[in-house]
Amino acid sequence: SSFVHQLADEHLSEEELLADPVSKIAAVGGTRHPNIPLPRDLFGDWANSGGIDLQERSILHQTAEAIGAFPFVPEGAATVPVGDAVTRAQAAFTGWSDQSIETRAATLERLADLLEANRIELMALAVKEAFKTIPDALGEVREAADFCRYYAMQARRGLAPIALPGPTGERNELRMEGRGVWATIAPWNFPLAIFLGQTAAALVAGNTVVAKPAPQTPAIARAAVRLAHQAGVPQDALILVPGGPEVGAALTADPRIAGVAFTGSTPTAKKIARALLDGDDRPLVPLIAETGGINAMIVDSTALPEQVVADVLTSSFRSAGQRCSALRLLVLQEEIADTVIEMLKGAMELLVIGDSGDPATDVGPVIDDAAYDKLMGYRDSVKARWMKTLPVPATGRFVPPTMIRLDDMDDLRTEWFGPILHVATWPAGELARTIDRINAKGFGLTMGLHSRIARSGELAEMRARVGNLYINRSMIGAVVGSQPFGGEGQSGTGPKAGGPHYLHRFCAERSVSVDT
Ligand code: SER
Repeated sequence: SSFVHQLADEHLSEEELLADPVSKIAAVGGTRHPNIPLPRDLFGDWANSGGIDLQERSILHQTAEAIGAFPFVPEGAATVPVGDAVTRAQAAFTGWSDQSIETRAATLERLADLLEANRIELMALAVKEAFKTIPDALGEVREAADFCRYYAMQARRGLAPIALPGPTGERNELRMEGRGVWATIAPWNFPLAIFLGQTAAALVAGNTVVAKPAPQTPAIARAAVRLAHQAGVPQDALILVPGGPEVGAALTADPRIAGVAFTGSTPTAKKIARALLDGDDRPLVPLIAETGGINAMIVDSTALPEQVVADVLTSSFRSAGQRCSALRLLVLQEEIADTVIEMLKGAMELLVIGDSGDPATDVGPVIDDAAYDKLMGYRDSVKARWMKTLPVPATGRFVPPTMIRLDDMDDLRTEWFGPILHVATWPAGELARTIDRINAKGFGLTMGLHSRIARSGELAEMRARVGNLYINRSMIGAVVGSQPFGGEGQSGTGPKAGGPHYLHRFCAERSVSVDT
């Protein structure tokens, strides 16, 4: 944090700097200095969060060391054949769905407590297995616990039967009930938070679950399932089936599955949708899919460049760009493009690229060789358009954070799931058209706007066809309960994780009318 010290000496106290990097940048910079630096703790919630103290930090490292080499088959991971898992989960359905909402909700709250009590081990698993940086690993555990507590609260609020008296003179009631066995299929990029978020929602809504983690991250899923059982979820109400696409295919081909909650790629979501329709006698079941996006941020000439730079770096490069919400396409108003690009180049220099688990690291390696090869192949193919790239450690799967110029924003048609930022421009007076062009890409997950013009914000609110619109801030890190997350179009089927309507999507709604 030498840079923070340096600024502290010159301008503000260190506490003030660490507490509020954005206003600090404005206070210190004040001007539009082209290479204005950012605070050293770039991605924030590490130094000043109080989230994990020094002693815990050292335990975390010891734990991560002790975990050893990955990928590994964790103890007890002997796989249950998918068909057997569904049979068992089906047999467990009546017992679990007969439990009161209160019992199921309290079970999730105990699970949240256990996640927090075991956070060092879980963080170490996220660091070792998913190559999360320490702040991201901490975020992972917090978000998983938040999902559990939030869904417990929403179950109590929203799943109780509703009396619907009215002109019929009968006793009418609407009930939200479990549908049966849900398949939850999770991604490697949030191997705890999304894995458990989908699963906890299905469970508290009265379903049993067969859960498939990503093949890259079975160990942290195993740990989560153990904690769920410890919290009181019956053994057969939640069964883990680790494995690759063949396991997913077997699961979605099973006609006894009552619904699928999937987070991953758009092509896989479509494959699942097709599989669920296959078979003449097969019931029609819901698919909750959350996929990717070509997420864009529009910046106009009234935006505060220092804040834009900080938010772009966070949105594009945090988690090595491996978030479905991450910024892929920055669209700058022509008049400010050169200034912002110069500032971004300077700020990128401050990114620390290194091993996950090193507290200094901002950008860690990407998840596996396939991702590395794909990203590097693309990056090499557009070398002529690099505006900025960074050196990386000689060994390891480090994709250099790279900024790429586009002559036309329509040229980007693929989601590159890594630390690669594309930059294009838009002409003054064409905000509506620019939003429409982004919409026309067909994805609809996140969009950002930086503008001090209230009317422009309103226009974006009316016109942006995305699940999550972020104005004058970064585009990642949706907060459970406050910023329900999920997209539309090719980005997903729409249900919002961490939102007040999510649990209903896991339920059968049954109306009962009795002539009294
Ligand atoms: N929920 C994550 C975010 O908002 C992405 O999955 O960044």
